[in-house]
Amino acid sequence: MAGERGVDDPVHDDDEPVEKAGLRNAWGRVNVAYDDMWAERTAHLTGRGLDLLAPEPDWDGLDIACGPGLTTAALAERLPSGRTLGVDFAEPMIERARERFSKPGIEFAVDDAERLSQPTGTFGAVTCSIGLMYCYDARSALQHMARVLSPGGRLMVMVWGRAPKVWWSPVIELIESRAEYFASVCPMMFFYGLPGVLGRMVAEAGLTVANDEAVDEFMVFPSVEKAVDAAILGGPLAGLYTNRLGPEQQHDVRRLLTEHISGLAHARDGELLLPAEARIVVAEKSALDG
Ligand SMILES: C[S@@+](CC[C@H](N)C(=O)[O-])C[C@H]1O[C@@H](n2cnc3c(N)ncnc32)[C@H](O)[C@@H]1O
Repeated sequence: MAGERGVDDPVHDDDEPVEKAGLRNAWGRVNVAYDDMWAERTAHLTGRGLDLLAPEPDWDGLDIACGPGLTTAALAERLPSGRTLGVDFAEPMIERARERFSKPGIEFAVDDAERLSQPTGTFGAVTCSIGLMYCYDARSALQHMARVLSPGGRLMVMVWGRAPKVWWSPVIELIESRAEYFASVCPMMFFYGLPGVLGRMVAEAGLTVANDEAVDEFMVFPSVEKAVDAAILGGPLAGLYTNRLGPEQQHDVRRLLTEHISGLAHARDGELLLPAEARIVVAEKSALDG
């Protein structure tokens, strides 16, 4: 293509939709911002998922859509005699994860959940924490997760819950409608968290569901302003907000989100608790399944 490549004009494979390459670039740009604004604040949700997963200490682990690596490191702590691999499709996320968490027993690699290149029947524990919603073909991603599990191994998938119970949910519509960018970064964001949906999809991938629960939790922020920053600048909408909205539109988004968040927040010890429902499914691969 002639001319200069713009921020929303990403490089992509011929067999990959251009929107997906855009999403990958958008995540790559916020590797540090996401790590700073979100990773620790969702660690208690992931911890609940890992408790339910209850992996054997000598299993090998695979953490898919690992982002900056905190979940991978938490999984590795539970696999002291195994090896843990974190994979993400955005290379800058993998660079960040390597900087923060590379040590003996933990590795990171670029890989796409929907076309996972890991060998079949290899990992006792497979996790995917708040990543499945971004997959263009979530069924294919779940089939790969089931494929790479070893017989008798277990999968833990966590997705966001129902939109009204997730504090930041209006931000997608607020930014995309003003950017006149109607191809949503994530059209299925709150679909898999509806009761029954994820459990059914995991079962369709050939696994036996052991747990399927909504976790009614909170995320903690020091102020509404910091929460607004996280919602806007800590995720894949940051580029659209910064590059496609004028100052008045940006101001509107901040004002409306501030109103929304202020209406939901509970104060505790000088901090704010914001509702963050997640759906966690844990499932097992049959020991006979080779
Ligand atoms: C909300 S972050 C979650 C990061 C981490 N799992 C956590 O719990 O903090 C979503 C991550 O999914 C990754 N992602 C989205 N689609 C993906 C795909 N098809 N394959 C691999 N990673 C993907 C993004 O690059 C991003 O790092």
